[in-house]
Amino acid sequence: MLTMATGNSNFQPKTDVRSYLILKADAQEALKLAEDRWTGKETPTYIKIENLDLNEVGEFTQLYNRCFLAAPDPFCALTPDEAKKLDPEGIFVAKMAGTLVGFIACFVEKKEDSNYGEITGIGVHPARRRRGIATALIKRATTYFLKSGVEEVYCEVFEENTPSLLLVMTYGFKQIGRRNIPINTVSAKDETSDLPGGKIMRRLGLRPRTGCETCRDI
Ligand SMILES: CC(C)(COP(=O)(O)OP(=O)(O)OC[C@H]1O[C@@H](n2cnc3c(N)ncnc32)[C@H](O)[C@@H]1OP(=O)(O)O)[C@@H](O)C(=O)NCCC(=O)NCCS
Repeated sequence: MLTMATGNSNFQPKTDVRSYLILKADAQEALKLAEDRWTGKETPTYIKIENLDLNEVGEFTQLYNRCFLAAPDPFCALTPDEAKKLDPEGIFVAKMAGTLVGFIACFVEKKEDSNYGEITGIGVHPARRRRGIATALIKRATTYFLKSGVEEVYCEVFEENTPSLLLVMTYGFKQIGRRNIPINTVSAKDETSDLPGGKIMRRLGLRPRTGCETCRDI
């Protein structure tokens, strides 16, 4: 069992910390809601979802950085060298006409005492938003989680990221906690937190990292 610290559900941002809301969904329910977007039809054929191919890491890096430049999250740009170290196993990309337009990163924790999935990052190119690409990615991610044998899925969303909160709440995620990260502090405690969440987000640059203090907003 995971030890969950449940916070209050007050959405007011604090001044001395950055707050990330921890949300949880049932994978079956999220899959059903994502499928229902096209009222039972398949994902449109112009959206292709595939596993990340590490040969496309340059294009992936550009997409990733483009997505987060147009997001309220504090972030630290990803480099192709860092992206090459990613495990493509749970990373899916969306393509339109052969071009990368979105991605989702999934993490599965399967241990004796903890068994859950986590969406550790999602992004869609700013010019391609509100066309159901994130929905198609969530649909693929939930299928991946169910095949991996996990039903509980978590994600963490920066409190000021309203589009992202609205997206995940559309697919059944509900707030169950809050992680506060002190501004201008690389918190060793947070690195070892036993709460689900943040593991790959940190690697992908959405959390303060040692050596990244001069990056945008960190
Ligand atoms: C959040 C994000 C991934 C959504 O991608 P998207 O492809 O536009 O999402 P979808 O088209 O699948 O949206 C599905 C539903 O989510 C909700 N939603 C998504 N974006 C929204 C927005 N900007 N405002 C309000 N609701 C929104 C809507 O209910 C939408 O359905 P509708 O378009 O039929 O109303 C995209 O805005 C993004 O890349 N943001 C920057 C990166 C980021 O913040 N990532 C999350 C942190 S890890």
